[in-house]
Amino acid sequence: MESHGTPLIDSFGRLHDNLRVSVTDRCNIRCYYCMPERDVEFVPRAEILTFEEIERFVRIAATLGVAKLRLTGGEPLVRRDLDRLVRSLAAIEGIRDIALTTNGVLLADQAEALRRAGLRRLNVHLDTLERDKFLRITRRDELGRVLEGLEAARRAGFDSIKINAVAVKGLTESDAVPLARFGRQHGFQIRYIEFMPLDAQGLWDRSRVLLMEDILRLLGEEFGPLEPVPDPDPRAPALEYRFPDGQGTVGFIASVSRPFCLNCNRIRLTADGHLRYCLFALEETDVKSLLRGGAGDEEIRETIRRTVAAKWLGHEIQRAGFVPPPRPMYAIGG
Ligand code: 5AD
Ligand code: SF4
Repeated sequence: MESHGTPLIDSFGRLHDNLRVSVTDRCNIRCYYCMPERDVEFVPRAEILTFEEIERFVRIAATLGVAKLRLTGGEPLVRRDLDRLVRSLAAIEGIRDIALTTNGVLLADQAEALRRAGLRRLNVHLDTLERDKFLRITRRDELGRVLEGLEAARRAGFDSIKINAVAVKGLTESDAVPLARFGRQHGFQIRYIEFMPLDAQGLWDRSRVLLMEDILRLLGEEFGPLEPVPDPDPRAPALEYRFPDGQGTVGFIASVSRPFCLNCNRIRLTADGHLRYCLFALEETDVKSLLRGGAGDEEIRETIRRTVAAKWLGHEIQRAGFVPPPRPMYAIGG
């Protein structure tokens, strides 16, 4: 493959081979820990990168060693013909893995086409199996369609299907066990994600985070003590535990209680073409202007290198002076 010198290593020695691409900031539901209930301000359509622009960026990033992609949103499936993008990205030399994070509402119709286009792995966002609570959390009555989407995805034969559940104290305690049971029954790994300060309304507070240890305790009371999965991949953000009877595992994205910044291998491209070195970054690089302003590949490569070189050690959610990023989750892309 065409290769352009050193891979993307930042000043802390971390190798960056993982790119998350947000394809839209729009969403068809309104999870309260992400979006405001109404009057959401979306990026004007003309500012959203085209498939061709995304493809060019990924092609250039691949020459710097980026091998893994994840498509995110907003909700990526509201972007028309997403399978066309997946197919073109899967064909890029050096890209070895493509995954997608979705809320699942539109998945039933698209699972098969996405799988055929070369998508290998799915993360479906689902916090509760109760219809009323789903409605309260997402402000939309779409649980039925999400469940249909999961079933369609299972039939389409993805390599892995995980369920992302945001863990909020005082809200999702009673969902932890039913979700775990559901996951064991259908072969989905549940990933509990500690509530992070990325919501649009500034509701986050440390006391509202349901921590990994709390969930482990709840699961332990039901299933018996879970054990850490041996020989974990040190670069994977999730901490994995298995059930004592050996049937299945769960994962934790313990961003608040156990930050994994030291192993971070990711960069992120927002839907409007800005490159970020961290979910929580306060600065970002405008790549869209380069893509639309006639910049050559080498100039864009240099911009990617510079962004990685400027990367900080990590977020400081733990610290009193923590400053949340200026964009909420839906505008960054998980
Ligand atoms: N804290 C933690 N996770 C969040 N997500 C969205 N908002 C938050 C938040 N404030 C998760 C959703 C989605 C993923 C991209 O990020 O579960 O699946
Ligand atoms: Fe939409 Fe995802 Fe935000 Fe929920 S978390 S509102 S599904 S973008």
